[in-house]
Amino acid sequence: MAKRYTRLLITGAAGVLGTVMRRELTDIADTLRLSDRKLFDDLAAHEEAAICDLTDADAVLKMTRDVDAVVHLGGVSKESTFDAILEANIRGFYNLYEGCRKNGVKRVTWASSVHAVGFYPTTQVIDTDVPLRPDSNYGLSKAFGEATAQYYWDKFGLESVSVRVYSSFPKPSDRRQLNTYLSFRDCAEVFRRSLLAPVVRHTVIYGVSDNLVKFTDNRKAAHIGYSPQDSSEPYRAKVEAATPQPDINDRFIATHGGGFAAAGHFED
Ligand SMILES: NC(=O)c1ccc[n+]([C@@H]2O[C@H](COP(=O)([O-])OP(=O)(O)OC[C@H]3O[C@@H](n4cnc5c(N)ncnc54)[C@H](O)[C@@H]3O)[C@@H](O)[C@H]2O)c1
Repeated sequence: MAKRYTRLLITGAAGVLGTVMRRELTDIADTLRLSDRKLFDDLAAHEEAAICDLTDADAVLKMTRDVDAVVHLGGVSKESTFDAILEANIRGFYNLYEGCRKNGVKRVTWASSVHAVGFYPTTQVIDTDVPLRPDSNYGLSKAFGEATAQYYWDKFGLESVSVRVYSSFPKPSDRRQLNTYLSFRDCAEVFRRSLLAPVVRHTVIYGVSDNLVKFTDNRKAAHIGYSPQDSSEPYRAKVEAATPQPDINDRFIATHGGGFAAAGHFED
């Protein structure tokens, strides 16, 4: 059967989630264009490399040429100085959207984050329309990204899905992650559905597995067709045995953003 896209660009393809997407999304496009600052020395026949720093607008313009759709994962993936975040996650993000606009790319799917809404309390179930409440420099850059995605849809008709990824790791490692866990299989699936859905305009969706405790609500993104298969439950006993019952006032467990919301302002 013909694949949906001819060429899918994956940025941050040498990173943790990029490696997952590279492995899992082979059913989406004939060619995967893998981009990162790091070199790839193991390209398969259906892969090509585009080594590029996201802060270099000319290189990003070239990287997005002849691309149908994007999975954007490149950038600073944790809290850092504002300068580091500004370059990779704000300037780099803008460069990516400009490249996509100029080259007629149809759709961008990208990893926003829980940290765009990290200050919501865990007693509040949030849907995809809640106002942003970033919890860090990093979260601010994700808020910028979501606003940029909306702008490029409204002004230029470039479609996007902003996937608010919660905690995508091999397994949950603490009590918060029992609620925020996103398995790698489900992570690939939320991006797959975001790429395949016929119409997305600009959609926000939460990237969370089917955990027992849920404090996100994806009903307004039901048109994406994301149905998680995994859960943190098999890990619960081990995690609870290894970690103490937290204080109810500890932001680590009392907010969606956990440690980022609990930490002070990040400075050098
Ligand atoms: N893993 C999670 O739980 C999680 C949660 C929320 C959001 N995210 C987001 O998902 C994306 C991928 O996360 P990850 O866990 O794979 O992180 P990662 O750090 O493993 O991967 C990020 C990749 O981006 C590349 N990169 C960094 N700066 C760059 C630049 N200026 N130009 C080009 N490439 C650059 C790095 O070389 C790296 O390979 C990130 O945007 C992150 O913010 C991840």
